[in-house]
Amino acid sequence: MEYTNLEKVNLKLSKLAIGTMSMPDDFNEAQNMIDFAFEKGINLLDTADLYEKGKIEALMGKALKGRRDDFLIASKVGNVWNSDGVSWHWDPSPKQIRKGLEMSLKRLKTDRIDIYQLHGGTLEDPWDDIFSTFEDLKSEGKIRAYGVSSIRPNVVRIVSKNSNASTIMSQYSPLDRRPEESIFQMATEAGIKILARGVYAKGFLINKIPKPYLTYTEAEVESTQKLINSFEYSGEAMLIGFSLAQLAIGSLVIGASSLAQLKSTCKGFQESKKIPAGLISDLQSKLPVNFYDSHR
Ligand SMILES: NC(=O)c1ccc[n+]([C@@H]2O[C@H](COP(=O)([O-])OP(=O)(O)OC[C@H]3O[C@@H](n4cnc5c(N)ncnc54)[C@H](OP(=O)(O)O)[C@@H]3O)[C@@H](O)[C@H]2O)c1
Repeated sequence: MEYTNLEKVNLKLSKLAIGTMSMPDDFNEAQNMIDFAFEKGINLLDTADLYEKGKIEALMGKALKGRRDDFLIASKVGNVWNSDGVSWHWDPSPKQIRKGLEMSLKRLKTDRIDIYQLHGGTLEDPWDDIFSTFEDLKSEGKIRAYGVSSIRPNVVRIVSKNSNASTIMSQYSPLDRRPEESIFQMATEAGIKILARGVYAKGFLINKIPKPYLTYTEAEVESTQKLINSFEYSGEAMLIGFSLAQLAIGSLVIGASSLAQLKSTCKGFQESKKIPAGLISDLQSKLPVNFYDSHR
């Protein structure tokens, strides 16, 4: 495994992280995934209070019993379930951040979250209060670093300019190159590392039956999937190599719903190290570039 240092807080993150949004319900399978990840040097798990209404955090808490210090936990706050049980609303207030944190700590059976992320953000949010709440929580030892999960350049601009955040979670893959325009640069200049999600475009770039993705049609997704799989390296390796070629990216948060998927990803990570830089440039040059048309 290779690691990135979050300089502001001196935390060493593995370049490959497990995204837990699609973790299996089956506890034994989840436990086997955690064990396998540890063997391979993965030390970062990304979760959120939103996922399965807290059930994924609880699953992580159970799976990490007795080995909490083997992993860094990144979780998220700001989305609150409504009483209908099917929808949620946005609440980034300091009160909700503190309340959400206490609930996450209980479910995760821990006394700290290593990277606490605001799970979204808009220009209208009370940013000064949000940042000072995260700073206070750091001083209290309840979180070690904080960040924001946002694909909006205008939100990333606020975070980069006005906070001491360590991470931004953003989406990046051959089908979503929008962060190349300004997000990567803003983060780098502010000493912030990108946690990249959507690296496989939910599996559409590996072997899933193509469906429309962002502004791309089914046929365009299919031809990108074929392109990724046309090289002598596996699709996983090409996608990992493509993303890690961006120096702004600190860690790839890749989702897996089974141990088999996690194994393929870890194999792809090792294989990606052998891909010549020229081949990634070749892939980049064959792909379309897309741009944000709102929230710029
Ligand atoms: N706003 C946010 O903050 C936000 C939003 C989304 C995600 N996230 C985080 O980012 C993580 C990853 O996001 P994501 O799941 O959207 O994107 P992703 O990593 O691009 O896709 C992961 C999905 O790809 C499929 N997959 C994984 N390995 C595979 C393999 N070897 N072969 C074929 N298919 C494979 C699986 O789908 P199946 O399970 O269908 O097989 C898996 O759930 C999440 O778990 C979560 O931690 C954060």
